Amino acid sequence: MKIAGQHHRAVEWSVQQQCPRWLNQCLLPFAVRWRESGDPETICQAIETMEVRGAPSIGAFAALGLALAFARDEARFFSHWLPRFRATRPTAVNLFHACDAMAQTASEATSAQHMIAAACAYADAEVQRNQVMGEHLAERLATGQRRILTHCNAGWLAAVDWGTATSGIYQLQAQGESPFVLVDETRPRLQGARLTAWELQQQGIDCCLQADGAAAWMMQQGKVDAVVTGADRIAANGDVANKIGTYALSLAAKAHGIPFYVAAPLSTMDAHCPDGQHIPIEERGSEELTHAQGETADGKMLQLRIASPGVSAANPAFDVTPYANITAIICEHGQWP
Ligand code: MRU
Repeated sequence: MKIAGQHHRAVEWSVQQQCPRWLNQCLLPFAVRWRESGDPETICQAIETMEVRGAPSIGAFAALGLALAFARDEARFFSHWLPRFRATRPTAVNLFHACDAMAQTASEATSAQHMIAAACAYADAEVQRNQVMGEHLAERLATGQRRILTHCNAGWLAAVDWGTATSGIYQLQAQGESPFVLVDETRPRLQGARLTAWELQQQGIDCCLQADGAAAWMMQQGKVDAVVTGADRIAANGDVANKIGTYALSLAAKAHGIPFYVAAPLSTMDAHCPDGQHIPIEERGSEELTHAQGETADGKMLQLRIASPGVSAANPAFDVTPYANITAIICEHGQWP
């Protein structure tokens, strides 16, 4: 999708430098800074620090990072690099899907060029899936006044290109519709305020930010036609792990008779996980709640304490929405049965 009118992908292989290239999402929306690295450890750290985040982007980036690891350090590909990449984040299953795919390619007597081509094909396939998924989702969203509430960032930043939840919104726009998006700010890391709002603005989509706690009220006021989120892992029974706050949204949507859609490619489905209780939920540092980061009027990045000194803070990064609260899960094949 676009930044200042130019098409970009969140992660890609730099043909010139022969290494992964990515947009540092920790600096958005204050600075658009691209990074490249030929060090696989730096790629792992970029996932851990969430310079690259969002389930499909994490998967594609890990595939590119593993291709790099194979090219630079083939001897330790299976013993060190595969476990190192697998340990970066626990919840988004796309990471493990990509690791399995690259392990399979590496086990079939191969070359570095073969691995790089496989990783690029993995990222391309993700983009293709998102685009088609968006067409299916747009059909569902083409009702009412197209006032769509979304949570976290399930946009192109999170999914290489197009996005999962936003893909349907971008497809609606391409069809000449004028969707309006209510963007949950998404405490504590503010992926909605910092990433989704910026992404939609770049794309020329009308949107409005709201506090997470405003969502149920906006539904009660009749200001929401549909809720659309992405997913980090979908269990075999249809339970969905996604950014913390998604479960509460699903309860509110159910109470108000508002359709609740989850958009996710098959790479987010975990057939080995029977239900939501078996999904590992990442617990992140308490400083994400006790401190806030932002830009001053003169362009300096600052980190400020915003909580009572010494207070403890629980920070589960994801929650699980039971399948019974979900109207439909939309994937690249349409509605997931
Ligand atoms: O912790 P994050 O920012 O990686 O969490 C991302 C989400 O929860 C997204 O909603 C999810 O990955 C869907 S991605 C298109």
